[in-house]
Amino acid sequence: MCYKRSEVKILVTAGPTREAIDPVRFISNRSSGKMGYAVAEVAAQRGHDVCLVSGPTQLAVPEGVTCENVVSAADMLDAVVRHLSGCEALVMTAAVADWRPCCVHAQKIKKSGAGMSIELERTPDILLSISDRKGDRVFVGFAAETGDPVPEAHRKCRAKSLDLVVANDVSVVDAGFGSDNNRVTFVTLDGTEQTFPLQPKRTVAANILDWIESHRTSA
Ligand code: PMT
Repeated sequence: MCYKRSEVKILVTAGPTREAIDPVRFISNRSSGKMGYAVAEVAAQRGHDVCLVSGPTQLAVPEGVTCENVVSAADMLDAVVRHLSGCEALVMTAAVADWRPCCVHAQKIKKSGAGMSIELERTPDILLSISDRKGDRVFVGFAAETGDPVPEAHRKCRAKSLDLVVANDVSVVDAGFGSDNNRVTFVTLDGTEQTFPLQPKRTVAANILDWIESHRTSA
């Protein structure tokens, strides 16, 4: 069992996933893990029981947080399914790779010829895969878009059975991937929107936790 104490039992995912091409190469994305680690850290400081499922990052696990490290989208799905039964809220901050190579080469691919192509297939959609196990849990997802993320956030909120989607434009230089700050809009299943200014990721995390604390069914 992953949790230590009882307040809200929160499962947080963070960072990118890596999808192997061969033993030395992979497909991934620019997530640093900062947004998800901020959620885990602030939640633990508030006394919640926090389980963090993290893709590869350079970050230290925050004090009081139990962390399971994973690599691929399949690993992350497996970890989320195992820890979900004990949690009351899920914050899915991870930037799960959307595609993976159809075939993982056992040996390093030789550089023969000028170019190469890799056939890709979709990774499992973690939120979709667990949507039928939601029950009374609060599910928070993110929507990362280049440009206005709000229309897609409304669509993802409905499609992935989420209570709250945190929408962010990842094409800007002062927020999103790798930054210590983020500029987000909260979009809820009943169609409301709340837009925040540029804030430290710890403040964004605090706002997400305020929302969870006031919307969990046992509150
Ligand atoms: O890590 P940082 O450098 O701090 O950057 C933060 C961030 C930009 C990664 C973060 O703020 C963010 O936007 N995270 C979500 C990234 C993402 O994958 O967004 P999406 O719109 O592609 O996915 C929508 C939701 O579905 C997300 O909650 C995602 O975790 C989830 N998902 C996506 C793909 C997949 N196969 N399974 C999923 O469950």
